[in-house]
Amino acid sequence: MTVSFGERMFFLGSILISMSSGQGQECTTIIENKEYSCSGRNLNHIPNSLPFTVTSLDFSFNFLSSLHKCVFPVFFNLQVLDLTRCHIVHIENDTFYNVKNLTTLILTGNPITYFGPGCLNSLHNLQRLILVDVGLSSLQIQINNLTKLQELRVGTNNIQSMSLPPFMSSFKDFRVLDLHANNISVIKTEDTVVLRKIGKNVALILSRNPILYIEPGAFKDIYLKEFHIQSAFVSLNAQKEGLEALTGLNVDKLFIGNYRMQWRVNVSNTSYLDGLCSFNFNEIYFIQKEWSENKLHLFRCMINATKITLKDQYIKSMEHIQFHRLKELYLGLTSLSVVPFISQIPSLEKLVVKNNMPLTFYGISDLPLLQFVDLSGNFLILKDCCSQFFRRTPNIRYMNLSQNSEIGMTNKPFSELDLLEVLDVHRTKLVLVFHFGFLHGLKNLKYLDVSYTSVTFTRQIIFQKLNNLTVLKMAGNSFHGDALSYILQNLTNLEVLDISHCGIEEISRKSFIGTPKIQHLYLSQNKLMVLDFLAQPELKPLTSVYVNKNSITSISLHVRQNLPTNLSEFDLTSNPIDCSCSQTDFIWWIIQNQNILKQPENIFCKTLSPSSDFRATDFDIDSCVHKKRLKIVLSVFFITVVVLLSFLVYRFQFYLQYCCILLRGYRSPGQQECSYDAFVIFSSYDEVWVMNELMENLENGVPPIQLCLHMRDFQAGKSIASNIIDEGIMGSRKIIVVVSQHFIDSAWCRFEFELAQSRFMMERNANIIIIILEDVEERKTKKVLGLHKHLKKNTYLKWSRDPLSNMRFWIRLRKAIIATNQ
Ligand SMILES: *[C@@H]1O[C@H](CO)[C@@H](O)[C@H](O)[C@H]1NC(C)=O
Ligand SMILES: *[C@@H]1O[C@H](CO)[C@@H](O)[C@H](O)[C@H]1NC(C)=O
Ligand SMILES: *[C@@H]1O[C@H](CO)[C@@H](O)[C@H](O)[C@H]1NC(C)=O
Ligand SMILES: *[C@@H]1O[C@H](CO)[C@@H](O)[C@H](O)[C@H]1NC(C)=O
Ligand SMILES: *[C@@H]1O[C@H](CO)[C@@H](O)[C@H](O)[C@H]1NC(C)=O
Ligand SMILES: *[C@@H]1O[C@H](CO)[C@@H](O)[C@H](O)[C@H]1NC(C)=O
Ligand SMILES: *[C@@H]1O[C@H](CO)[C@@H](O)[C@H](O)[C@H]1NC(C)=O
Ligand SMILES: *[C@@H]1O[C@H](CO)[C@@H](O)[C@H](O)[C@H]1NC(C)=O
Ligand SMILES: *[C@@H]1O[C@H](CO)[C@@H](O)[C@H](O)[C@H]1NC(C)=O
Ligand SMILES: *[C@@H]1O[C@H](CO)[C@@H](O)[C@H](O)[C@H]1NC(C)=O
Ligand SMILES: *[C@@H]1O[C@H](CO)[C@@H](O)[C@H](O)[C@H]1NC(C)=O
Repeated sequence: MTVSFGERMFFLGSILISMSSGQGQECTTIIENKEYSCSGRNLNHIPNSLPFTVTSLDFSFNFLSSLHKCVFPVFFNLQVLDLTRCHIVHIENDTFYNVKNLTTLILTGNPITYFGPGCLNSLHNLQRLILVDVGLSSLQIQINNLTKLQELRVGTNNIQSMSLPPFMSSFKDFRVLDLHANNISVIKTEDTVVLRKIGKNVALILSRNPILYIEPGAFKDIYLKEFHIQSAFVSLNAQKEGLEALTGLNVDKLFIGNYRMQWRVNVSNTSYLDGLCSFNFNEIYFIQKEWSENKLHLFRCMINATKITLKDQYIKSMEHIQFHRLKELYLGLTSLSVVPFISQIPSLEKLVVKNNMPLTFYGISDLPLLQFVDLSGNFLILKDCCSQFFRRTPNIRYMNLSQNSEIGMTNKPFSELDLLEVLDVHRTKLVLVFHFGFLHGLKNLKYLDVSYTSVTFTRQIIFQKLNNLTVLKMAGNSFHGDALSYILQNLTNLEVLDISHCGIEEISRKSFIGTPKIQHLYLSQNKLMVLDFLAQPELKPLTSVYVNKNSITSISLHVRQNLPTNLSEFDLTSNPIDCSCSQTDFIWWIIQNQNILKQPENIFCKTLSPSSDFRATDFDIDSCVHKKRLKIVLSVFFITVVVLLSFLVYRFQFYLQYCCILLRGYRSPGQQECSYDAFVIFSSYDEVWVMNELMENLENGVPPIQLCLHMRDFQAGKSIASNIIDEGIMGSRKIIVVVSQHFIDSAWCRFEFELAQSRFMMERNANIIIIILEDVEERKTKKVLGLHKHLKKNTYLKWSRDPLSNMRFWIRLRKAIIATNQ
């Protein structure tokens, strides 16, 4: 496909336009065309860059002192408008004309002095109206037309009466009336008329009001979904009387007590909670800050509750109470020193005691419907757990004994608890007497957490017959020898396995043979160096693997190619990744697979100094390619040089050898002993002359002259070069050179002559005797190095067949040979 220049310019232009028009650049886009946040931008108008399709606009913490028709552009789809703390003082009649579809309007924290009459009434669809801290002094606001209103939050104002305007009795969807932190001190029967008419689903929040007096019966026959009266009374006495006055009220969830920050109060009248008996509630959430030296009858009026949550309670003990309907009991942060002996509550299903203080536990019993027990975080020390602590509680399915001090288990610890599905004892020291029967009979167990329990797992298979187990957490323990290869057998439904922080150095392929459904494998903080086990077929269902904080330097190609196909989360962080050029494939794999790697930016390369760690994803693979190229170039160059040198050595081996010998000889010239008088250099074509004339005349004359002739005197088995050098040139005092046409043409002769000359250069005193056997063209003599020079100096003998000159020749030659040097 080709793109024309024009099209490209158009494309660029449209990008520029869309950037400069920057849909809401003063604001943050949360959902394109729908949700925008302009919070805290010091704006004094609604940016016109916002799309008209916006449905949710957070315009909090800006400056809009006065609201009128022109403030909001036409946003027909706008449903949520947040104008928290915008310094709004004045709101005109027609303000919301352009945003009529609002369902939520938040005006919190504006010092509003003028509400245009009926300004809110145009918002027919409004469901949530938040007028917190706007200086409201009355609930009589003009919201007649807001028939769909569900929530009216008017906390932190100066409202003195909870009386709702009469028209609200037709608001069928009304759910929440939040009057927290107002100035309501008296509630009379006529204040609750509308509330009574609205229905049963309202949550009424009166917390943090200074209530002094409630007219008895004011709440009679009212049904509230929630009733919040935390810190709602001026005094304990007012609370005591107030509660009593609530007679006839029906509440689903009651929130009572004090806020955390309030000072503890010394209660002298122990019957101060008796008022709770005068009305009905199902669930009670009680955060108490008061304390007393006398025994408080906390539960006396809670016997009809279905759920009791007590926090920050000053209770030292809990006597047996005959609860009628109690299903859930939650005791947190109390002054108890013993877990209450809870028994014979036939309806109890859930029990939670979390104290963060050391408790003693003597057990619970006779709770036929109890399913859920959480006694975590109580520093419990249990010897011979667990059946004897939970007697006649056959329905327990969830047991959380985690974060306690020590739990001892002997034979069949869960013998009467065989419906158990979840067992959590993490971070509690486990003292197991018989490993083998530890979980005997828990055939329904699905979730087991024995992390950080100081257990050393041995080869005895302690997870026998746990066919339903799907989650097994064993982090922070240790394995004896190769126990890991054995203990996971037959866990055919296991999906999650956590064996982090167990000091594991390697994992054998056998380990996962019995776990065909495993999906999540946690192996962090071990000492693994290789991940070969990941490639085995039993681990194909894995979707997440965590091997962070191990000693992995690399992952082999085989493993990378055989990783589980559905793997979507792979944590390799905090490993000493080897980022050398030999690992470029692996680094490249990391860079390519950042979508499945968890926090790929935290995968660091191991370097010598830990301070200079750098990210594996930042590794420059190109530099490795360059290095590789350089290596190849260098090795080619090296090979070439070696070949060239070998060739040169071969080509000039004789010279080299000669050099060696020369060096040897030069070092010890005195040791050189000459076994011949003269070495004869000649062409084999001239052999006849040499044998018949030269040898005949010199060797048989008087005194005889010992010649060195290559065909006769060279030692067999020695290389020619060494022979020439050792025997001929070095072993003879003089050199006789027989110059002829053939001599000049022979490479060997020239070589010998050159060698001979180089000896003179070294010793300076040796002699070369030139015999001209036949005339040679001067031009040709120049071919032989040095010969021309000799000939010019006339230091040669010329052979002639004439007998007279012949005789002179032999005399002169003999003289030249015998003449001693110097
Ligand atoms: C908003 O109101 C207009 C008319 O007031 C109406 O046509 C439109 O459907 C409403 N939009 C939504 C999303 O309710
Ligand atoms: C506001 O509306 C009320 C009633 O709808 C009307 O009486 C009043 O005149 C209006 N005020 C302004 C300033 O438009
Ligand atoms: C309130 O509703 C009445 C009747 O439905 C209507 O006449 C009146 O105009 C509405 N008020 C506003 C401010 O929309
Ligand atoms: C609360 O109401 C009382 C009268 O009921 C009044 O005296 C007092 O000033 C009000 N408090 C505030 C903070 O407005
Ligand atoms: C708590 O109140 C009782 C009864 O009023 C009183 O006897 C006791 O001294 C008080 N205790 C403290 C610590 O104030
Ligand atoms: C507690 O209050 C009740 C009623 O308000 C009263 O009858 C009783 O005497 C008070 N008890 C104490 C010890 O003050
Ligand atoms: C509990 O409910 C029974 C009737 O169901 C009632 O008689 C009794 O007074 C209630 N007790 C309390 C403390 O609310
Ligand atoms: C057990 O309780 C501890 C501490 O409250 C909590 O962190 C853990 O999630 C609970 N275990 C289960 C399985 O719910
Ligand atoms: C446990 O597994 C068995 C089959 O092995 C099955 O019949 C039983 O329903 C399972 N129990 C639970 C609670 O899933
Ligand atoms: C695993 O289960 C098979 C068949 O259910 C059984 O034969 C085998 O003995 C079991 N192995 C262990 C170690 O429990
Ligand atoms: C991978 O996921 C798909 C879809 O969730 C599933 O059908 C398939 O069986 C999974 N593959 C393996 C090996 O578990």
